[in-house]
Amino acid sequence: QNLVKIFANRPKPAVDGINITFYEGQITAFLGHNGAGKTTTMSILTGLFPPTSGTVLVGGLDIQTHMDSIRHRLGMCPQHNILFNHLTVAEHILFYSQLKGRSREEAEQELETMLEDMGLTHKRNEEAQNLSGGMQRKLSVAIAFVGEAKVVVLDEPTSGVDPYSRRSIWDLLLKYRPGRTIILSTHHMDEADILGDRVAIISQGKLFCSGSPVFLKNSFGSGFYLTLVRKMRTTKMGRATVSMSVVCLI
Ligand SMILES: Nc1ncnc2c1ncn2[C@@H]1O[C@H](COP(=O)(O)OP(=O)(O)OP(=O)(O)O)[C@@H](O)[C@H]1O
Ligand SMILES: [Mg+2]
Repeated sequence: QNLVKIFANRPKPAVDGINITFYEGQITAFLGHNGAGKTTTMSILTGLFPPTSGTVLVGGLDIQTHMDSIRHRLGMCPQHNILFNHLTVAEHILFYSQLKGRSREEAEQELETMLEDMGLTHKRNEEAQNLSGGMQRKLSVAIAFVGEAKVVVLDEPTSGVDPYSRRSIWDLLLKYRPGRTIILSTHHMDEADILGDRVAIISQGKLFCSGSPVFLKNSFGSGFYLTLVRKMRTTKMGRATVSMSVVCLI
């Protein structure tokens, strides 16, 4: 509600009067240029620092007065991984799950599901410092969901992740969407289009527009999607087809 953040050393607000509602059971994708104010907004949402003015209500509770209660159901994946070098993948999930109040047994059950869903089963005993960048990212996303987090804030969860792993993160988000309010920032327009029930575009700290991808395309879009399907010659392996999509903008 009227969210404003002015950093002490900068005259221009990083967040400049944003009003927006995020809905349960939906993924809202935050799109915006570098420095648009995505991380600042998400940091305020998760209580990392307070707003200069305005506030955020999470399930009716105000972040300025009820942050401790809100944290119980909040999960966050920061833009830059914050992992413990010498804890393994499994230890991270167990640690955060128990930190959120789950028993050891519940945490162990959650661990198995998470490892399976993230495709990290073979890395369960690997220390975080030995994981590739993409795997560290996957672990950070998994941590955001542990402990039955109901409001999950993901700051560029798929940055630096290969296309196959990106797909597995998408699958995880879609699987975990029911009953949760998921907010993710991204620079990938295809990602926002595919995952976002709603897309919010911010520019220079202001909410530029928000709505479902269909609504936004109908309101502001001009152009066509042209899908070309080319038949390949029959090979010993059978017939293969290649499909590619080209976006033509008028
Ligand atoms: N701690 C800080 N102190 C001063 N200015 C800051 C601070 N954090 C962010 N800013 C400024 O606030 C503005 C918004 O930054 P923010 O990190 O929210 O952008 P972003 O949309 O997340 O960008 P990116 O896509 O590059 O991650 C930028 O102009 C940035 O320089
Ligand atoms: Mg950012």
